[in-house]
Amino acid sequence: MAYIDDATINEIRRKHPIKEIVERYVSLTKKGEDYWGLCPFHPDNNASMSVSTKLDMFQCFACHKAGNIFNFIAGMENINYGDAIRLLAKEDGYNIGNVSNYVNPHIKDYEIMNLAIKFYQNNINSTLGNNAIKYLENRKIDRDTIKKFEIGLSIARQPITKFLENKYDINDLIDLGLSNTNETDVFSDRIMIPIHDLNGNPIGFGGRIYQTKDGSKYINTKSTKIFDKSNILYNYHRAHNKLSKDNSIIIMEGYFDVIRASTVGINNCVAPMGTALTTKQIRTLKKITNNIILCFDGDEAGKTATERAIPLLENENINIKIIRLEEKDPDEFIIKRGKEAFINKVNNPMSVMDFKMQTLKENKNLNDTKDISKYIDELIKELIKEKDEITIELTLKQLEKKFNVNYETLKERYDKYNEITKKNTKTSKQEVKIKEKSLLNKYGQATNNLLYYMAVAPSIIDKSEKKVIMILDDKKRRLFNELIYYYHKYNNIIIADFVTYLNTKTDVADTFMEILNLNLKKEYTEEEIEDYIKCINEEYQNKRIEKLNIELSTEKDPMKQAKISMEISKLKGVTMK
Ligand code: CTP
Ligand code: MN
Repeated sequence: MAYIDDATINEIRRKHPIKEIVERYVSLTKKGEDYWGLCPFHPDNNASMSVSTKLDMFQCFACHKAGNIFNFIAGMENINYGDAIRLLAKEDGYNIGNVSNYVNPHIKDYEIMNLAIKFYQNNINSTLGNNAIKYLENRKIDRDTIKKFEIGLSIARQPITKFLENKYDINDLIDLGLSNTNETDVFSDRIMIPIHDLNGNPIGFGGRIYQTKDGSKYINTKSTKIFDKSNILYNYHRAHNKLSKDNSIIIMEGYFDVIRASTVGINNCVAPMGTALTTKQIRTLKKITNNIILCFDGDEAGKTATERAIPLLENENINIKIIRLEEKDPDEFIIKRGKEAFINKVNNPMSVMDFKMQTLKENKNLNDTKDISKYIDELIKELIKEKDEITIELTLKQLEKKFNVNYETLKERYDKYNEITKKNTKTSKQEVKIKEKSLLNKYGQATNNLLYYMAVAPSIIDKSEKKVIMILDDKKRRLFNELIYYYHKYNNIIIADFVTYLNTKTDVADTFMEILNLNLKKEYTEEEIEDYIKCINEEYQNKRIEKLNIELSTEKDPMKQAKISMEISKLKGVTMK
């Protein structure tokens, strides 16, 4: 595969100042030296993203996303870094044909998974698939839906391992979770539901049992190099193109809930596959919407799952709505009560407060004074988390009316809890700050600072190179070496180009972004640099001495003991006679 060389990439980058690229998506205002705008990578009300024309980089102070034009385009278009380069190259009329400088390392894996989908689809469409089709038809899943969701069938008599083994290494099939180590199939006689990553690449399967009741109802692909369950949501790649007019995503529990909803025209549904919702998944959703509707199963477990998901979503500042169903799950609700009933639910979801009012009531006798008092108390505690003042007031007024308790009394209780919560969060915030500071001790700061100034003022590299600098942290040491290498190759460091270089060659790009994000003062003195180097080397010495002392205490061979002692003395700067 052909390759776009770094020089061409940098040429393309220089043709497009960062401001021009960012302004294609976001409007910017000049403040001081830089431009500022709403960060498109997280819901932002404060114009947290700065664009530096000097560095040709963007940076968000809230979500910490940062980079050059290619990082920005990749983020906005939801494509990888190499494709972002290719996109601009095409726009500029470079004749690059089908080549990309970035070769996705998983192309072959996707090819195999795609073949697997085709293989299983073939099975379900053959005569051996009749019973599976019947099963699905019984569940009111028609041919069009089977096709749309690429549903297939694994058949014990026709192992996929045999089929793919001719063309691919068995170890690849094992790694992808299609075959077992003894070269048998992972999935046998199951209805196969393909799972895709956020970009729509096929990465795994959910396999449902359909003929017997023995065994697990579903088997899912194990975690593989391309299938990270904690980050994936079933149907995300279809749903994110089909956001409804108010831009919500509906989270359901199961595959068939999502599939069923699409049969009644509701296409903005996703499902975490059999596990609790993770923060990673929430952040993934946050890229496309700030509005999430939880529509879990109608049973107790579904209620608990809803209660658990709420604080996670609140932590990420998501607007939450909730649907509770009077049937087992969305699938059954739609089958039993029909399209209109479900659409009505979707159009009128509950607020979190309404949901809590409803659940707190359960198992309480609201004719009993003690239960009423408990109910009110629990509800006010919940109300503390509510940010909208109107909701707070309305809820308290509702309580006043319903239980004949004075509004003032209720408000007093609310204020009291509010005060306590405020105090607690204050101290915990302070604790976090202190912790962060101590985590990044003097040594950590010195390393970051040195690397920062090496990047923005490369002449430092000339000076610091003459000294021995030992960096303990692996990624930072690699960044240090890359900076030196790059500087010598190009006689200069243009940060935005250096970012391109890091992105295609190593994984220290993140570390570099973090360091740029520190946003240190622009001026530095020679003494400061000297101090950083001294501090870094002292730390190295101390850690090395510590390690040698441990070795010394366990070493039995006197010759080796002497050698270690000598090294310790050397490190301490004492010469042995
Ligand atoms: N699940 C799983 N493994 C299981 C059971 C469930 O991975 N043994 C996951 C599947 O993604 C499933 C979801 O959890 O879709 C919800 O489980 P459940 O409610 O038990 O199944 P349903 O979706 O109702 O499945 P079906 O309608 O096919 O009976
Ligand atoms: Mn179900």
